[in-house]
Amino acid sequence: DQVLVLSGGLSHEREVSLRSGRRVAQALRSRGVDVVESDVDSGLIARLAELGRPVVFPLLHGEAGEDGALREVLTLLDIPFVGSVGSAARVAFDKSIASTVVAEAGIATPRQVALPHETFRELGAAALVQALGDQIGFPMMVKPSRGGSALGCSKVSTAAELPAAMVGAYAYGAVAVVENFVEGVEVTVAVVDRGDGPQALPAVEIRPDSGVYDYAARYTAGATRFLCPAELDDDTARRVAKTALAVHDVLALADLSRTDLIVTPEGVPTFLEVNVAPGMTETSAVPLAVEAAGWGLGAMCADLVAVARD
Ligand code: DAL
Ligand code: MG
Repeated sequence: DQVLVLSGGLSHEREVSLRSGRRVAQALRSRGVDVVESDVDSGLIARLAELGRPVVFPLLHGEAGEDGALREVLTLLDIPFVGSVGSAARVAFDKSIASTVVAEAGIATPRQVALPHETFRELGAAALVQALGDQIGFPMMVKPSRGGSALGCSKVSTAAELPAAMVGAYAYGAVAVVENFVEGVEVTVAVVDRGDGPQALPAVEIRPDSGVYDYAARYTAGATRFLCPAELDDDTARRVAKTALAVHDVLALADLSRTDLIVTPEGVPTFLEVNVAPGMTETSAVPLAVEAAGWGLGAMCADLVAVARD
């Protein structure tokens, strides 16, 4: 029984995905699992056919991977895989759609506006700066609605910074989201289901040395301090876990997700986004939480593969 770890692909997060793939492949091999690694390209279907019916562990980040497209193909081919189905991944991956669904479930979210590039072009930056300043207020976060690893994300403190931030977000996709910057403690929570129901792992608190958890802070060793468990009182830690479980549930996610939250000074866990293929690199939060939980990355990945195979 083989496991096919898929990583790479063509998204902006290709490099990150290759690192996640290598780490998961190593972790699975350390548990004696027979692992084949593959990039995602035009040879994929042929490779899948050669292997028979492997269990796929998709570790693609970003578009055409994390957005559900690949998972839909696997479902069509009747190939078992770890993680959420395509339709759920599609909703979860889009920050604007996911945030709307999560807010409707009663979970705190930032005030958010989604702006297609066309609207930006038609209305012009000046009118939008005025409208967004009124509706969202400063400071704000500007992000591509469909992206990852903080690429194209900017914190905007003044009206003058907004047009460039929006253009930066549009470089990564046709829709930008603009939301109010939520002050507080940044935490991320993995939810794992090894067949007996979703369980939240201890929250990881994120303290980038630079103050901003950008691409460099994410993937440079030592650039960010991670605390696991997060420095939260017991009540807040429980609310944080409950929120991550509720996000996993309301978005109908499966097997593994990671929810990024800000805990406000009042102790309210506020949803930022959720990842159906969370980073598994040497500097990523999920492997850290799994190790802190005393489970081990290899054991967790092997458990997820076993569940996918059943
Ligand atoms: N999008 C990256 C891989 C993450 O969320 O960890
Ligand atoms: Mg993400």
